[in-house]
Amino acid sequence: MKVENAKIIENKQIAKDIYQMTLQTDLVVECVPGQFIEITVPGYYLRRPISICSIGQDTLTIIYKILGDGTRAMSEMESGESLNIFGPCGNGFPIVESDHLLLVGGGVGVPPLYELAKQNADKQITVVLGFNTKEDVFYEEQFKRLGVKVHIATMDGSYGTKGTVLDAIDKYQVTGLIMACGPLPMLRAINDRYEQGFLSLEARMACGIGACMGCVVEMADGSVKRVCKDGPVFAVRSVKL
Ligand SMILES: Cc1cc2nc3c(=O)[nH]c(=O)nc-3n(C[C@H](O)[C@H](O)[C@H](O)COP(=O)(O)OP(=O)(O)OC[C@H]3O[C@@H](n4cnc5c(N)ncnc54)[C@H](O)[C@@H]3O)c2cc1C
Ligand code: FES
Repeated sequence: MKVENAKIIENKQIAKDIYQMTLQTDLVVECVPGQFIEITVPGYYLRRPISICSIGQDTLTIIYKILGDGTRAMSEMESGESLNIFGPCGNGFPIVESDHLLLVGGGVGVPPLYELAKQNADKQITVVLGFNTKEDVFYEEQFKRLGVKVHIATMDGSYGTKGTVLDAIDKYQVTGLIMACGPLPMLRAINDRYEQGFLSLEARMACGIGACMGCVVEMADGSVKRVCKDGPVFAVRSVKL
C-alpha cells in the first residue's frame, strides 16, 4: 500500500451524476479487481473509498457518483490537477476455477466488475447490471466490447428488464459462479438465493487500513471482520447481512 499524488488524466461525466476519472499512478502494479483506493479530496479530512474500475499500464480508472460534498468537489476537478490517494486497499475478488462467471452489479457497485471481467477473459462471463432508471445506466457498451454477455435491469422498466438484477437473471436464466457488488438489499437477496460466490460490501470508513474498527461487519459465525482490511470481498453466506 502506498500514498501518492496521482495526476488526473481525465474526469468526465458518463451518466446522471456519474463520473469517470483516470489517474496516472504507480499503484497499478499492486492492484487486483475488487480492491479500492482511498482518496483525499482537497479541503476534506476523511478519505473517500472508491473501487478500482480499470487497471492500465500506469493508470487507474475509477467511476464515482456525486453523493455528497467530497464527490461533488471531485467532479469539479480537471485534468492536470492532482489527487492524493493511497492503496490498493482491501482484498479483491479471488481467482476461481469455475469457468463460467455471473458478475452482478448495482449502481456504483458496477465499476469493480469491469476489471474482474477483463482479467477473466478466458472464462464464459455473463454480466447483469441493475440501475434505477435509464439515465443512470453506464458501462453497458464497455462490457460488451470485452465480448461478454450483458443484461440490464432498471427498477422503473425504462431500459432492459423491469425490476431487479434477480428479475433479469430469472428472465434470461443466467447461471455461473456469482460475484456481486452493489447496494445492501441487492447483496442480501443474492446471499439468500445463492450458496456459493462472492459479495463486495460497502461500509462507512474512517481509517481504511484496519486500525479504527469503524467498518466492522458481523460474520455468520458470530465473529467480526473489517470491511476495509478483511474485505470488501467476502464469500456468500459468510457475513450476516
Ligand atoms: C470499499 C468501497 C468502495 C466504494 N466504491 C465506490 C465506487 O466505486 N464508486 C462510488 O461512487 N462510490 C463508491 N463507494 C462509496 C463512496 O465511498 C461514497 O459515495 C463517498 O465516500 C461519498 O463521499 P462524499 O464526500 O460525496 O459524501 P459525504 O456524505 O459528504 O461523505 C461524508 C463521509 O462519509 C463517507 N461516506 C459517505 N457515504 C459513504 C458510503 N456509501 N460508503 C463509504 N463511506 C461513505 C465519506 O467517505 C466521507 O468520509 C465505495 C465505498 C466503499 C466502502
Ligand atoms: S475503516 Fe478503520 S478499520 Fe476499517
